[in-house]
Amino acid sequence: MKRKIVLGMLTYILGAGTMYAQPQQPVRESKNEQPSSFRSNALWYDTNGEPMNVHGGGMLYQEGTWYWFGEKRGRSRSEGVNVYSSKDLYNWKYEGIALAQVTDTTSDIAQGCLMERPKVIYNKKTRQYVMWVHLELRGQGYAAARAAVAVSPTPVGPYQFLKSFRPNGNMSRDMNLFVDDDGAAYHIYSSDENMDLRMARLSDDYLSPTTQDSLLFRRQREAPALFKKDGLYYLITSGCTGWAPNQASLHTASSLFGPWQLIGDPMTGPGANKTFGGQSTYVLPVPGKQHAFIYMGDRWNPQNLKDSRYQWLPIQFKEGQVVIEWMDNWDLTWFDKIK
Ligand code: DGJ
Repeated sequence: MKRKIVLGMLTYILGAGTMYAQPQQPVRESKNEQPSSFRSNALWYDTNGEPMNVHGGGMLYQEGTWYWFGEKRGRSRSEGVNVYSSKDLYNWKYEGIALAQVTDTTSDIAQGCLMERPKVIYNKKTRQYVMWVHLELRGQGYAAARAAVAVSPTPVGPYQFLKSFRPNGNMSRDMNLFVDDDGAAYHIYSSDENMDLRMARLSDDYLSPTTQDSLLFRRQREAPALFKKDGLYYLITSGCTGWAPNQASLHTASSLFGPWQLIGDPMTGPGANKTFGGQSTYVLPVPGKQHAFIYMGDRWNPQNLKDSRYQWLPIQFKEGQVVIEWMDNWDLTWFDKIK
């Protein structure tokens, strides 16, 4: 009995300390309200007044417009890849399903497959938008561990599925893409049952991995989000605990293929040791602003995946250290104030 009371008190105290994990006020109360700040964990509505459904996502910036690609989810089902567009990062217009699943049960992307963590990059030479997504084949759980590639002549698609495979024969689950200053693109992926984090340089058309593919480190990490600042590469990852939050870590390297040095947990403040109840998905460099990067995460709701929430936080550089702290409500002017 005593134990129960102590446990109850502990839960209460811990609960009180995890305000960050509680749903907050919706960003948009009505169709007509135009949000002008980021409120992580709140319900984010699109410009039609519908809750946004864009999880495990990533961003593409083209000529003044951001395109946010992410998983379209049902309660648990994967329903393809959604895309939204925005001119200001606050107000998002639904552009539809960028990559759909198909009814042909023999296809790699047959309904019932899993499409997770989609990312899109633009290839200047072929003038194609190229999507990579973690693909699990219908009816096989997470056993297939493949990457899929799809292309479109326009940013919003619809994207045409080209192929799926294990890069250079390696298992490939959580993933991201990164385009370096010289235009070379890279696929970062969790491999060998998520024990390894690997990176493969892509072919010039971004459609295939090259054999320049190597182990970054073997530390059982997933949810990779890579960015570059002042010639140094930063890589945020999570641990592997399914949908449950765990501790993030940061690695840095002066060269993409390493060596990658483990720095530690970049999150700080209450809830930091569980990544504020969320998991990394992307780091967005803000165009036109120097040293402005937005950490994008997901607060998963495994009971109802489509109701998973978004966590966007500014990345701070304090005395050479990357620091991410919880902010209930902030906007892009935050980056001007720190100069
Ligand atoms: C953790 C991964 O980061 C997610 O993308 C998803 O695959 C879940 N595991 C499934 O449990």
